[in-house]
Amino acid sequence: MDKLREHVERNKDRWLEELIELLKIPSISNDAERAGDMSRCAGRVQEMLSEIGMEAEVVPTGGHPIVYGERLKAPGRPTVLVYGHYDVQPPDPLDQWRHGPFEPTMEGEYLVARGSSDDKGQFHALLKGIETAIAVGGELPVNVKVLIEGEEEIGSPSLQPFIHEQRKRLACDAVLIADCSQFGIDMPAITYGLKGLVYLELIVRGPGKDLHSGSYGGSVANPANVLARMIAACQEPFGKVGIPGFYDDVRPLEAWEREEFARLPFDEEAFVKETGSPRAFGEEGYTTLERKWARPTFDVNGLVGGFTGKGAKTVLPAEARAKISMRLVPDQDPVKISRQARSFLEEIAPDTVQIEILDHHGARPVIVSREGKAVKAAVAAIERGFGRPPLFIREGGSIPVVNTFGEELGTDCLLLGLGLPDDNTHSPNERFRIVDYYRGMVAMAALLEELAR
Ligand code: BES
Ligand code: ZN
Repeated sequence: MDKLREHVERNKDRWLEELIELLKIPSISNDAERAGDMSRCAGRVQEMLSEIGMEAEVVPTGGHPIVYGERLKAPGRPTVLVYGHYDVQPPDPLDQWRHGPFEPTMEGEYLVARGSSDDKGQFHALLKGIETAIAVGGELPVNVKVLIEGEEEIGSPSLQPFIHEQRKRLACDAVLIADCSQFGIDMPAITYGLKGLVYLELIVRGPGKDLHSGSYGGSVANPANVLARMIAACQEPFGKVGIPGFYDDVRPLEAWEREEFARLPFDEEAFVKETGSPRAFGEEGYTTLERKWARPTFDVNGLVGGFTGKGAKTVLPAEARAKISMRLVPDQDPVKISRQARSFLEEIAPDTVQIEILDHHGARPVIVSREGKAVKAAVAAIERGFGRPPLFIREGGSIPVVNTFGEELGTDCLLLGLGLPDDNTHSPNERFRIVDYYRGMVAMAALLEELAR
């Protein structure tokens, strides 16, 4: 057996315990009341880096702390920067979890907990891969820097300036990120494209207070009705987005890429079944994979206003709100799209209400190179860890710092995924397949060896 795998086999139970402890910390970055848990989690990650022989520190920021560590003991050899995030998305709706989101539980092959796949389980596997490489090889074959942040799920507002300020210290030959997913069971993948993001909140205000819907309905505008019409105006038939100019900078899919997507072993029926939807839906003229990976979207993520309690209450709400995400593809610019959306919404808002638009976080779309030494090394390493070579795929999610790394450090990111597409990330019962967690450690240790060649 591969020495790397042997080492993982010998230590795997202990490491799983360590991951379970990390998953018990509710490090929810968008919740101000969790600041204490965020620091505790950062502290724990720093200890983990120290325990594997890295010089590590917790770096305070204006937001949640960043953890940085390095082990630079391979002069003349390449340097790899490993990135991950210890923050997680809020766990609600809580009543849909089979166990508490921060009470990690094994269910068959899977460990179920918020953050198990996105991203604590994944970056933990990379750290244990580093530990394995040191244990088996006596020393790391390349220089390694590790950067684990606590604000990925809110757009990485503190990390982007940190990377700029510390660009000399962070200099490297490759950035390695395991925050995507495999294509399916036993189908490891390298991701070369991610979507960008604009996240807006649209608030519509009408009367100064909630009113009796009989006495006042029909005589003043209902903000919830107006909001519904405005949202509808942003959508065109056949799954297209209706904001003027929205498609101006969309890079069309090329024939080679459509052919490549079509050749992937995508099980559409299983995909639809997993979602629970009656059938697939999306922009006409495109396949499901094309829609998921390469076409921009407009989606309401949350909608509130008026009476939402049990039963009926006849009321005309004073206010209604929608949280809206627009996922972008190359070469759409989030700043431009946000501006276009804002001016369209302002233009269509009737003067019977007042509107406010909040700009939450954003991210630029990503395409990284599929060529180069790091990609070749990753192909070989994945084959060693997973027993088969990776597929090349794109994804619909966003990772805000990928372009920042490219611009500040001049290095492309290598986007790996140890999780599976149906890991329920951001949903109830998030899970991580534990065999892949261990395979990921072997692949990581192998990658460090491959990069040294
Ligand atoms: N791990 C995801 C990104 C991802 C999702 C990659 C799906 C591949 C497939 C990441 O943690 C994430 O969720 N990012 C946010 C970023 C946003 C809040 C700026 C996202 O995509 O919603
Ligand atoms: Zn996420």
